[in-house]
Amino acid sequence: MPEDTTLRDAADAADFRLGAAVAADPLRTDAGYWTSLRRGFNTVTAENAMKMGPMRPEPGVYDFTDADAVANFAEEHDMALRGHTLVWHNQLPDWFQEWDYTDDQLAAFLRDHVHTVAGRYRGTVEAWDVVNEAVADDGTMRDSVWYDALGDRYLDDAFRWANDVAPDADLFYNDYGADAVNEKSDAIYELLEGMLDRGVPVDGVGLQMHALDGVPDPESVAENVRRFSDLGLDVHVTEMDVAYPEADAPENHRERQAEDYRDILDVCLAEGVDTLVVWGVRDSDSWIPEWFPHVTEDPLLFDASNDPKPAYHALKERLEDTD
Ligand code: XIL
Repeated sequence: MPEDTTLRDAADAADFRLGAAVAADPLRTDAGYWTSLRRGFNTVTAENAMKMGPMRPEPGVYDFTDADAVANFAEEHDMALRGHTLVWHNQLPDWFQEWDYTDDQLAAFLRDHVHTVAGRYRGTVEAWDVVNEAVADDGTMRDSVWYDALGDRYLDDAFRWANDVAPDADLFYNDYGADAVNEKSDAIYELLEGMLDRGVPVDGVGLQMHALDGVPDPESVAENVRRFSDLGLDVHVTEMDVAYPEADAPENHRERQAEDYRDILDVCLAEGVDTLVVWGVRDSDSWIPEWFPHVTEDPLLFDASNDPKPAYHALKERLEDTD
């Protein structure tokens, strides 16, 4: 029997942005994927299509095919679009390996990339992950092509360039492992505080929330959100999935997973976080089994048959209970 109301309806009614990362291929070909996506979400992020590697197949060439497919789907279905991501150390174009650039050439390349991509989706992308994962797990700046050639200034530059062409988009710094108060989130706090002091147009911080051993302590996540909010930044949960080490998974882990999702939504609603994005639609679409084979393989809200899981119902009930 069809439901009377969907998770998306509950998110719309609560004025909350509930999102999913999407891939371009199933968007074109898979009716079940569409159905689940429309049932669950009012926001999408391109899982890979807006990254530099996929968009820049050859020197001097931009390929917007997949990114446009995601943007068009969002528009047709009245969904908000989060842009992911302009500057990252991973998924770089393959031809970078052959390119013998000077530091100035790399800076010019990056400026052109940010201007072109953020400019193309101006007015369409509401929030951009301008820089992704610039901080290493120990809180130092991560070595990357950008940091090696340009030093710290690449972050300031990237945000300024994005702001040149997309002044109405919210510009985010996004990272993993910094969801609760810890060494890494301390370092990100200092990084962003320094950028704000220098007048860099950074509007928000994305907490990825890849939870591979259940979610982090919700109290500590709330405290982390509050300190970023006190800096004047918006906070989004940008890439949530919830798994447990296979060797030590809770019994009925789908029930526990539902509680974990709901606990993070609780923090969002209590602390003024208006966006929570899940990193995929169905368990069978998730990146987790390939990248983290030691954890449970069902981290998302829909199962492989497009049936909603307990976590779907838990989020829906919580969103219906917001007044
Ligand atoms: C992942 C995608 O889900 C995979 O399909 C891809 O092979 C690798 O990247 N942090 C991020 C995301 O910011 O872009 C990553 O997405 C997951 C970790």
